[in-house]
Amino acid sequence: MDALLARGHSPFVVDNLSLGSRQNLPQDIPVFEVDIRDSAKLSQVFDEVKPDGVCHQAAQVSVSRSMREPIFDAEVNILGLLNVLEQSTRVGVKRVVFASSGGVLYGDVTTPATEDFPKRPISPYGISKWVGEQYLEFFARERGLQGVALRYSNVYGPRQNPHGEAGVVAIFYTAMFAGQIVTINGDGRYIRDYVYGPDVASANVTALEFSMNQSFEAINIGTGIGVDVNEVAEKLSGLVQIELRKQGSSLQIPHWRHGVPRLGDLRSNLISPIRAKQLLGWKPARSFDEGLRETVSRFGLKST
Ligand SMILES: NC(=O)c1ccc[n+]([C@@H]2O[C@H](COP(=O)([O-])OP(=O)(O)OC[C@H]3O[C@@H](n4cnc5c(N)ncnc54)[C@H](O)[C@@H]3O)[C@@H](O)[C@H]2O)c1
Repeated sequence: MDALLARGHSPFVVDNLSLGSRQNLPQDIPVFEVDIRDSAKLSQVFDEVKPDGVCHQAAQVSVSRSMREPIFDAEVNILGLLNVLEQSTRVGVKRVVFASSGGVLYGDVTTPATEDFPKRPISPYGISKWVGEQYLEFFARERGLQGVALRYSNVYGPRQNPHGEAGVVAIFYTAMFAGQIVTINGDGRYIRDYVYGPDVASANVTALEFSMNQSFEAINIGTGIGVDVNEVAEKLSGLVQIELRKQGSSLQIPHWRHGVPRLGDLRSNLISPIRAKQLLGWKPARSFDEGLRETVSRFGLKST
């Protein structure tokens, strides 16, 4: 939202607030508390707002829930997306940007995957993101809108929901600020490509605005740089300790422990940002260290 406002857009939000929170939004942004599965209510919102562009972020975001409840996953991530696409074409939206996922599409890769890399989704969540991209491409080809699928790597940053299973940074710093022991799954040698939330926001705004040569594009949004979970814990505990001292707290962060490995966790996942640079002129503005520092200091401010 901040990135859209900074570029002079007049955004509004559709969210059922099942995971999201109004507190994370600027006060004067219109929020429609609507479930994207509810086509009648969604249709009313699109009639009222008649947007030019849509950034579709709403989703069932849990891989493990998708394993347990594949129908629920498909209802939100496929049928919900179809509702958004139907309403978009009905009211003449020019462009839809869709939050896809590089992590779940490319699987285990040790060198940064480019967009043409084989797609191997192994969970219903991954399948629904892949199918979602293909529906977007269909609507772009047949129904006259432009579609951009942004394949994020692992997003982290301030205001991230710590209750999910994939938000390792938020889970760790929230526990550390509370003086709780962090548990690292398995040996922690799981390499991920961490991209900073505000950088992802700027990629979304650019994806809405850039001049497209074709009706559909799929673009990775990541860094191409791998960091393992042990390093995340190490870096974060140092930063959180400094922040706690700044706040006058004498809390000592306990050392983390290693738990059982999580079934199905990929060993390595990296995505190439080269096409994002070529097409959008986008590259991550912050290194992982800078993003972590900013995240921790903003969390510190919130908690005082
Ligand atoms: N966080 C990551 O690392 C990551 C990586 C790849 C892709 N993505 C995608 O990015 C998008 C945003 O993810 P996030 O990590 O910010 O998660 P998030 O949970 O913070 O955001 C998802 C939002 O969707 C809303 N929502 C869920 N079901 C809904 C429904 N039926 N109707 C309306 N709103 C609904 C939630 O309330 C929440 O605000 C998602 O599409 C996700 O799949 C995230």
